[in-house]
Amino acid sequence: MTRLFIPGPTDVHAVVLAAQNQPMIGHRGPDFEELFARLQPLLRRVFLTSSRVYISTSSGTGLQEAAVRNGVARKVLCCVNGSFSQRWYETAVANGKEAVRLDVEWGKAVKPELIDEVLKQGGFDAIALVHNETSTGVASPIKEIAALLHDRYPEVIILVDAVSSLGGAPLDFDGWGLDVLFTSSQKCLAMPPGLSFAAVSDRALAKARTVPARGLYFDFVDLEKYLLKNQTPSTPAISLLWALAAALDRIMAEGLEARFVRHAQLADRVRAWAQTKFELFAEARYRSQTVTCVRNTRAIDVPALNGYLQSKGLQISDGYGALKGQTFRIAHMGEIQLRDVEELLALIDEFIA
Ligand SMILES: Cc1ncc(COP(=O)(O)O)c(C=O)c1O
Repeated sequence: MTRLFIPGPTDVHAVVLAAQNQPMIGHRGPDFEELFARLQPLLRRVFLTSSRVYISTSSGTGLQEAAVRNGVARKVLCCVNGSFSQRWYETAVANGKEAVRLDVEWGKAVKPELIDEVLKQGGFDAIALVHNETSTGVASPIKEIAALLHDRYPEVIILVDAVSSLGGAPLDFDGWGLDVLFTSSQKCLAMPPGLSFAAVSDRALAKARTVPARGLYFDFVDLEKYLLKNQTPSTPAISLLWALAAALDRIMAEGLEARFVRHAQLADRVRAWAQTKFELFAEARYRSQTVTCVRNTRAIDVPALNGYLQSKGLQISDGYGALKGQTFRIAHMGEIQLRDVEELLALIDEFIA
C-alpha cells in the first residue's frame, strides 16, 4: 500500500475501509435514523460545536457552494491567498453573487487589519475565508479575524473552508463564533472521498431562510428539516456513512486533543527538516499544522523525487498550480504517524544526497 503524504485523499485505515462493506439499508427507515443519530454528536465534538453539522454526499466544493448560496444576500468579501481561497471568489461569481476580492500575497496569511480596511467600505453581509490554504501551507488566524468581525461588523456572516485542517487542527466553531465551517471526508478525517460536513450556526440558518434562490441540493433549510428527523433530503452515500462512524470512533479513541498534538508534532518535525534542507514557503507564525509547503531551493526534479518515493511506496505532492516545481508539499494529516514522517524524510535525504 502506498503511504500518502499528499493533501488528500489521505490514507484510510483498514477498519474504516472495511466498515463500508455492509448490506444496504433504506434511508427512510429506523436503521438509518439510528446510524445518523449516532453520527451527529460525534461530528459536533469534532467541530467543537453544539450546533448542527450537516452531512453532504458531495466533496467539500459542494458545501462551499452551499455556503455561498445560503449565506450571501448582498455582497461577500472573498479573502484570496492561494488557489483554494480563490475558489471562494469563483464560486460566489458563478452563483451570481456580488463578490469583492481581498488579495493577499501567496505564502502570507489573511490578517484582521487587512480585512478591516475593506469591510470599512460597507455593504458586506458575508466574508469567505480558507483556514488552511492547501496550496501554500498557510493557516490564517480565523480566531482573531472572527473576533474583529464580532466587534466591528456583527452583521457579517463568517464562512470558513477548513477542508484541509478540520480534525487535524483545533477550530472552535462555537468559541470563535463562526457561521459556516466545512470540511471534506478525505483529508484530516482520514475517510474515503465522497462526503463533506458543515457546521452551521443558528444565525446562518435564520439568514438562509431569508436568502432567495438557495438552490435545491444544498439548501440549508431543507437539510435542517431532514436533520431534525435524522435523515438527509436525498439518498446519501450510505456505505460512506458506515465508514464515517468507524472514522469518528477512531478519532474519539485517539482523543481530539491528542490528535491535534500529534498533528502539531508532525508539522514541527517536517518544518525543522525543511528549514535545514530547503526553506519554508509560508510566513512564520502562520504555518499549517497539516501540510507543509517547501520552497524548492535546490531545484530538485520533484516528479523524479516522487518517482523515487513511489518506488518505495510513499508519495508527496508537487507544488500546486503556479507553484509547481518551485515548491513541493508534504501533507501530514489523518493517519500519518511520526515514524512515517521519519521514513519519508530519510528517503528524501537519500534522494538529494
Ligand atoms: C482548502 C481546500 N478547499 C477546498 C478544496 C476542495 O475540496 P473537495 O475536493 O473535497 O471538493 C480543497 C481540496 O484539496 C482544499 O484543499
